[in-house]
Amino acid sequence: MYFTRNVTNDLVWVGADDRRLACFEGVYGVPDGVSYNSYLLLDEKTVLFDTVDKAVYQVFFENIKHTLNGRKLDYLVISHMEPDHAYTIEALISRYPEIKIICNSKIETMLGQFFDIDFSGKLNIVKEGDTFSTGKHNLTFVMAPMVHWPEVMMTYDLTDKILFSADAFGTFGALNGRLFADEGDFFGENLDEARRYYTNIVGKYGAQVQSVLKKAAGLELNFVCPLHGPVWRAHFGDFLEKYLQWSSYTPEEKSVCLAYASVYGHTENAANILAGKLVEKGVKVRMFDTSVTPASYIVANAFRCSHLVLAATTYNAGIFVTMENLIHDLVNHNLCNRKIAIMENGSWAPASGSLMRKELEKLKGAEFVFDNITLKSSLKDNQIAEIEALAQKIADDICPEVKVFEGGSVSKAEGLPVDDGAFKNMTYGVEVLTTRVDGKDYGCIINTACQVSSSQPRKLTISVIKKNYTCDMVAKAGKFNISILTEDAPYSVFEHFGFQSGRDVDKFADCTGDERTLNGIRYIPKYTNAVLSCEVIDVRDVETQTVYIANVVEAKVLSGGKSCTYAYYHAHIKPKKNPAPAETEGYICKVCGYFHEGAELPDDFTCPLCHHGKEDFEHVVPVKKVQQKGYVCSICGHFEPCDGELPDDYTCPLCHHGKEDFEPAVQ
Ligand code: FEO
Repeated sequence: MYFTRNVTNDLVWVGADDRRLACFEGVYGVPDGVSYNSYLLLDEKTVLFDTVDKAVYQVFFENIKHTLNGRKLDYLVISHMEPDHAYTIEALISRYPEIKIICNSKIETMLGQFFDIDFSGKLNIVKEGDTFSTGKHNLTFVMAPMVHWPEVMMTYDLTDKILFSADAFGTFGALNGRLFADEGDFFGENLDEARRYYTNIVGKYGAQVQSVLKKAAGLELNFVCPLHGPVWRAHFGDFLEKYLQWSSYTPEEKSVCLAYASVYGHTENAANILAGKLVEKGVKVRMFDTSVTPASYIVANAFRCSHLVLAATTYNAGIFVTMENLIHDLVNHNLCNRKIAIMENGSWAPASGSLMRKELEKLKGAEFVFDNITLKSSLKDNQIAEIEALAQKIADDICPEVKVFEGGSVSKAEGLPVDDGAFKNMTYGVEVLTTRVDGKDYGCIINTACQVSSSQPRKLTISVIKKNYTCDMVAKAGKFNISILTEDAPYSVFEHFGFQSGRDVDKFADCTGDERTLNGIRYIPKYTNAVLSCEVIDVRDVETQTVYIANVVEAKVLSGGKSCTYAYYHAHIKPKKNPAPAETEGYICKVCGYFHEGAELPDDFTCPLCHHGKEDFEHVVPVKKVQQKGYVCSICGHFEPCDGELPDDYTCPLCHHGKEDFEPAVQ
């Protein structure tokens, strides 16, 4: 039975999923399957863009027949001759013998190599920039050599702005009914497999990918249709950005890809100790056992991380086989510009370290950040310092100390005056910070989001009070959203997110909607004008606050409302209430209004409601009232000051009752 989906009104996906393939290209495990995409354009002429692997030929031909609905098939455009897309060309021609083929001259050569068919009179050879009209649609052709084979070309539909991108922008994984990337959480669920696909299939050809990306940069794109994985019709810029990073061998994150090969666990033990020390120093570690995790996954993570630490035992006087295989793959996939450290082990003649280094020196831009560490059978106490030093060296690289200026003509003791008033003249926005951990949503109010870089990827910082539960959750999740509040936000929004803790309540329990960005984190759709999704790339401890530095990975405008500033909140949103009991001395929180009774406020005091520190409290001293003697009217409560007796003819100025209704009182 056919199964097709429409990309547009006249373009139909006629491909198929394969979930039974053990190894793509005989090498790469695809536990989530793979899709072979083919597209059929129904214009005045009918045009098929590529065929599929033999594994799914049956449903493919049913799809074509159903979609053509009795029409003849006029053209086949061939983008790529690798058999996962070209195998069924011969069967296609036998079913549709009048079909003409549009391809380039390199494809023509390969057609002759793969098939014993007479293609004469069938081929329409095109080159870069040629155009071809199918009726309403005008196609042009873009050569993309080595993305992934030398003959590859892409086709651009000038009419509907569709790029048929061949292997580029593909992803491992069956479609499972989801044709478009935006029909699921691509960046949350599929990016790892997209990275593994890219790095292993075309990772070697970064320069060629960059040159195609330059060509694509000038095209208006409504749809991008790759040969594997979902079609792009939204958020393509985010995926393109990943391609720019991968193809330029730029690490996506400052982190360590730590891979080890261990026969009896001693090398693994040293790798674990190193990982622990790195994590203690705030370094993110992605760790792999080369005997367990296939090389394609480790290669993908080596592209992802800035640092690479490889640890391997010596085996047959060489490198242990699974590590040797991994290094071979890293070199063959042309990984560049990584900082590298090596650990070797050997009970009588350790040799793996020097051999690994010799191979890794082939990587362009490789920088070895530490001398090889050598274990003799197992790690000993006297080598812990060496492991510590390696961890510190990497941590210094990844989390550089912030240098605080202390010198100059003004010493700390004589410090320049700091007028708090100067800070009051700074402007701040107000935002709801949200994140998600273990399926639970968290959020709090902050006024500290600040863009720090407009180059790609854009970066921002947030500072969060450590005692806020959301602060811990952001650290765990490594990602967050910022919803920018607008001036129409009521006080209840600030109370809800600002004056209660996620430790005690689920702040989203009563939410009716479930608006989330692609990272799966909620955002606030009402009383806001924008949301920015961020991935943490660095963390700083600043006394009572944690500062997160993050890449902005998604951003959208939610409304045209005016952003609420911190000053606007205080002037127009926060209720003007009597700040404190007039007769009691204490301290009032300027942020949330909490009153702390007492003459002293400890230096380390933090507000139990909003967790702001002592600096945000105002000292309230009650005005001492002079007690007065007098008389109070028992009818209306009017107090008449009087040190002696009320005159006999006295009448209350409010209720006009006489002296007989007054009683002595002190106020
Ligand atoms: Fe999907 Fe290069 O073939």
